[in-house]
Amino acid sequence: MAALLFTAAGGALIVSWTAALFYFGALCTSILIYRAFFHRLRKLYSLRWVLPHLQYYSSAEKLHEKYGEIVRTGPRELSIANVDAAALIHGPSSRCTKGPWYSVLVALDLPSLQSSRDKQEHKVRRKIWERAFNAKSLREYEPRLNRHTFELMGQLKDQVTDSVRITDWLNWYSFDVMGDIGFSHDFGMVRGGKEDELITKLHKGMAGGSIFGHLTWMINLLVRPGVGIEDIVEFDSWAHDVLKRRHKIQPREPDVTGWIVDPDEEDLAKHVPDTKLLIVAGSDTTSSTLAWLCYELCKNPAVQIKLRKILDAMVGNKAFLDVEDVANVPYLDGIINETMRLHPAVPSGVQRLTPPEGLTLPSGPYKYIPGNTIVWTHTHTLQRNADYFPRPMTFIPERWTDEMSATHLLDKRAFQPFSAGTYNCIGQKLAMMEMRSVVANLVRRFEIEFAEGEKGERIERDTQDCFTVIVGALDVRLTPRTAGKS
Ligand code: HEM
Repeated sequence: MAALLFTAAGGALIVSWTAALFYFGALCTSILIYRAFFHRLRKLYSLRWVLPHLQYYSSAEKLHEKYGEIVRTGPRELSIANVDAAALIHGPSSRCTKGPWYSVLVALDLPSLQSSRDKQEHKVRRKIWERAFNAKSLREYEPRLNRHTFELMGQLKDQVTDSVRITDWLNWYSFDVMGDIGFSHDFGMVRGGKEDELITKLHKGMAGGSIFGHLTWMINLLVRPGVGIEDIVEFDSWAHDVLKRRHKIQPREPDVTGWIVDPDEEDLAKHVPDTKLLIVAGSDTTSSTLAWLCYELCKNPAVQIKLRKILDAMVGNKAFLDVEDVANVPYLDGIINETMRLHPAVPSGVQRLTPPEGLTLPSGPYKYIPGNTIVWTHTHTLQRNADYFPRPMTFIPERWTDEMSATHLLDKRAFQPFSAGTYNCIGQKLAMMEMRSVVANLVRRFEIEFAEGEKGERIERDTQDCFTVIVGALDVRLTPRTAGKS
């Protein structure tokens, strides 16, 4: 009897599997035929596949070099490195919405500010966040920021050897700052001189960000059943705990959470995605930019000397420069902008969906992008285009100042490291404050050069595109200098 039942069950299984195979076979064949012969993008743009991987931005850039400013990288996906199209996609009156990539984030969670795809919902949330990043709030974060930079400089002074892994220190610094300003949490990584285990796990979990961005259909297959996302789930529960702790206290100085979570709020779970966003959006972005900036300073010692002279002339012998001391130094901002131009922290850009009527471009060989098309503005390629930035591969901070902007900054719309329009980076002013503070103090205290044997190859080769980048290692030699002396 048991044997009979077993055989019957086995037969049913075979029938189900055969039916499923036929079903999926027919489905895949019809999709392939449709995409090969009937897809609405087919006549406009030929398909150039690029398999998602951790250096996606450089593969996509090669496609742009070969096939032009708009490349079809998926059945209904375009990679765009054309300034007019970028301006239409991100302009103030754009009807483009966030694309399905953002559903990857929501599949795991409730929406955050960044993953809200509904325009109205995003607008409401953004209004709340704006209070945390207006001029008054930013001023209130300055003391915390000054303390972190001061601590970093102190630690680097103690570390002075022939070789300092500067990428680690900058990463620890940026997480310390975001933990503190974001939700009064003390990571203490700079003080302790080592990475918090949680951050290691977060970085491991981020690799999927790039891959799923271009294969969103895999979300349901993998992410929903929870395959391979253990590190992300752990980060989620950590963020929940941190938020609960923060909610019980009244910090002595204002933080971002104080603006976005009501003190009487009972449902903290719905704020966890924003807590995670604060960390993810505000840390690796800033630290990777600072890392590339150090790389450029090592490669361009004249830039370092010029900045040092400007700062010395401005502040004399003052040992530590506060955020407000360096708020208006055009050459310093030029160095930061030039770094973000050549090494954007979100190199493959952001994903949007065109409105039903599509987009009509004003000029050039590309006339029309149909509706409901996924578009990525490829920031890395866009910002290295000689039509917008002459001598694009040369590091020229002066292109951002009166000295050379007329000849070397031909179309500022092509500069989008913080994205643009209604969904742009809400933390960009805070990021600038952080970067000015670190770079100005670093350059005044130390002469920076590549460590013995370092040529900058690892940061070039090992940087991973996980939506934001995780940079490869960079070792530098820091030679202390006496303030006010070159
Ligand atoms: C160099 C540093 C930074 C760079 C290059 C950068 C870049 C970007 C980019 C490209 C976006 C658009 C993302 C998208 O549309 O999906 C973005 C959004 C965002 N950034 Fe930044 N960011 C930086 C620093 C920061 C900092 C310090 C914070 C502080 C919390 C922050 C918070 C955010 C938030 C909350 C969003 C989502 C905004 C929205 O969807 O309305 N970022 N950032």
